[in-house]
Order: sequence, then structure tokens, then C-alpha cells
Amino acid sequence: MKVLVLNGPNLDMLGTREPSIYGKQTYRDLVIELKKEAKKEKIKLKIIQSNFEGVLIEFLHRANNKYDYIILNAAGLTHTSVCLYDAIKAIQVPVIEVHLSNIDQREDFRKINYVRPVCLASFYGKGFESYKDALKYLIKRGVSHDSHR
Ligand code: DQA
Repeated sequence: MKVLVLNGPNLDMLGTREPSIYGKQTYRDLVIELKKEAKKEKIKLKIIQSNFEGVLIEFLHRANNKYDYIILNAAGLTHTSVCLYDAIKAIQVPVIEVHLSNIDQREDFRKINYVRPVCLASFYGKGFESYKDALKYLIKRGVSHDSHR
């Protein structure tokens, strides 16, 4: 199974960025943990982070027919980006939404979510575990022709 993990703006600042919300572990720690998890499960994992909306959109487009699933933490763009909504709709690869924090229990503006309606499932509020839960979900779901929306 081939999975692309896409991380959006400011996630490169993990470790020093609002540690009371996002924890003290760094972005590098996240990459190492996810790669370890993927190796155990024989998943081919590519992990990318960008602070630019257009770059994330390009990666979504290019993932088409190349990956079985995409795990997306769109970060702040979750709450603003019609373009990400459109990009997810434009591709056949199913997308799973993840967040470190519980976005439903924070500021009201984080309750606006452009990504969730076009995602297969959402995992959030559990730090790095949110990503691992997404991986477990994909493993359980497996790859089949009807896994593509
Ligand atoms: C986040 C939640 C978003 O609301 C925020 O803008 C982020 C990180 C999370 O992983 O908890 O940058 O996506």
C-alpha cells in the first residue's frame, strides 16, 4: 500500500510552536515515528510538509494514480481553503483528514472545516496518535478498486 502524508503550514514548527497544544515533539520526531509505524505494516510512506497552499495542491494533483491513500493535515488551511476542497474533489485518491489537536473544541473559527466533507474519515485530538489511527484505519480498509471515491 502506498500512502502520501501531506502536512500544511506551520507544522514544521512542531516542538517549539505552542507546545501546550501541539506537544514538545518536533516535526522530525513525527516523521521518524510514522516511518517506523509504516515499516512495521509494510506501507510505502512518503511524508511532505509545505507552508504553501499551492504546493499542497500540486502534491494532491500529482498523487493521483500514484498513491492508494493520502493522509492530510491541512493545518490552518483546513478552515479557509476552498482550493484544497476542490483539489480533493478533483482527484480519485481517497483522503483522510488528521489533526494533532481537537479542532472541534478550540476557537470557533476552527469549527469551519472545508476539508472534512470531502474526506473519507477524520482523526484528531490525539497528537501523533491521530496519524497512527489514520494508518490503522487504512490498513483495516485495505486497497481495493472501490477504495477510490
Ligand atoms: C492543526 C489544527 C489547525 O487548526 C491549526 O491551524 C494547525 C494544526 C492540528 O494539527 O491540530 O496548524 O491542524
